[in-house]
Amino acid sequence: MEISVRSIRKEFDRYPALHDVSLDIRSGELIALLGPSGSGKTTLLRLIAGLEFPTSGQIFFGMDDASAKSVQERNVGFVFQHYALFKHMTIAENIGFGLSVRPKATRPAAAEIRRRASELLELIQLPGLDKRFPRQLSGGQRQRVALARALAIEPRVLLLDEPFGALDAKVRKDLRRWLRELHDKTKHTTVFVTHDQEEALELADRVVVMSQGKIEQVGTADDIYDRPATPFVFSFIGESSEIPVIVSGGRVSFENTLLGIDAEGTADGPARLFLRPHDLEVVANGGGAISGEVMVVRRAGPVRLIEIEVGAARHRIEIELPADDGEHLSGTVHVRPRRWRLFPAG
Ligand SMILES: Nc1ncnc2c1ncn2[C@@H]1O[C@H](COP(=O)(O)OP(=O)(O)OP(=O)(O)O)[C@@H](O)[C@H]1O
Ligand SMILES: [Mg+2]
Repeated sequence: MEISVRSIRKEFDRYPALHDVSLDIRSGELIALLGPSGSGKTTLLRLIAGLEFPTSGQIFFGMDDASAKSVQERNVGFVFQHYALFKHMTIAENIGFGLSVRPKATRPAAAEIRRRASELLELIQLPGLDKRFPRQLSGGQRQRVALARALAIEPRVLLLDEPFGALDAKVRKDLRRWLRELHDKTKHTTVFVTHDQEEALELADRVVVMSQGKIEQVGTADDIYDRPATPFVFSFIGESSEIPVIVSGGRVSFENTLLGIDAEGTADGPARLFLRPHDLEVVANGGGAISGEVMVVRRAGPVRLIEIEVGAARHRIEIELPADDGEHLSGTVHVRPRRWRLFPAG
C-alpha cells in the first residue's frame, strides 16, 4: 500500500507541530522517521494511523483519500512508544486481541484466532509461548509480541513508534536485524520512528530526517551521509565541525587564509564550511591549510580524536586520525579537508 502525505499542517492549540509536510511512501517500503525530540515524528505517525487529524492537507492510502477515515477503516497495525502488553492476558490472547474485538460478522472463530496467534509466534521466533503471561517474558521478547499483535490484524500498513526504545543496545541491535528480516518476508509498508540515527540508517530503505515540524531531507543512507541537503542534516548525522568562511569567485577563504578547496558552485558571500573528523588530514605547513592549536587529544577505540581551535573566534574542529598517528600532536597543526560541504550562510 503506498501512502501519500500531502501538505500536512498540524496545530495543537494554535502551535504548529507540523508545517507543510509532504511525503510519498512506496508500497512495501521500510521507511524511518528520524529527528530530535519534539521534531514531530510521533505526530506524523499518528496522523498516518488516523489517531489524529490534520489541521490542513491530506493523506492518501493508494488512490483513496484516507484523511477523514478512522483507524479501523485504514487498517493499520501499530506499536507505540511506551507500549505495554495487557498484563492479565496470555501471550496468545494479547496477539489475538485485535481480532477478538472485531464485530461478530468479521470476527474469526476462537480456534482460528488461536491458530493465527501460534503462527505469528513462529514468525517472531517465540514458538510455544502461547500460554505465558507478559511478566514471564524478557523485554525484547515482549517487544516482539507487540509486533506480532500489530501484525495479527493483517494490516495494510505497519506503524512503529520507537518500538525498541527501552531496550539495551545489544538487544536493540538484534531486534533491528530481526525486524529487517521480518519485513523482507512479510513486505508490509512500514513506517518506523526513531531518534537513533544508526538504527534508522541501517534498517530503513529510506530515511526521513525531521527538525522542528519540517522534513529536512528524504533519502537513502548514502544520500543522507554523502549528500546532506541542509546544514541541519550535516550536523545531525555523525560528527561534524563548522567554520564561517567567505566565498568569492569560486574560492573559499577562512579569515585571511585562502583555503585550497573548491566552492562547488556556492554563491559569493558568507558561507558555512562543514567538515567531518575523518575527512581531515594533518599536513606540513603550506598554502591552503587551516591552522589551529591542539587542545585535546584522546583515544576512542581504534582511532585518536584531536580537537583544535582555529581563528580569532577559536572555533573547535575535531580531527580523527589512526591511533598511532595522533599520539604526540601538540602546539600548532595544519589541516586540510579531503571532503567538505559548503552552505550559504543565513
Ligand atoms: N497532544 C498534544 N498537544 C499539544 N502539543 C502536542 C501534542 N502532541 C505533540 N505536541 C507537540 O508537538 C511537537 C511534536 O511532538 P511529537 O510528539 O510529534 O515529537 P517527537 O518527534 O515524536 O518527539 P520524541 O522523540 O520526544 O518522541 C512537540 O512540540 C509537542 O510538544
Ligand atoms: Mg515521539
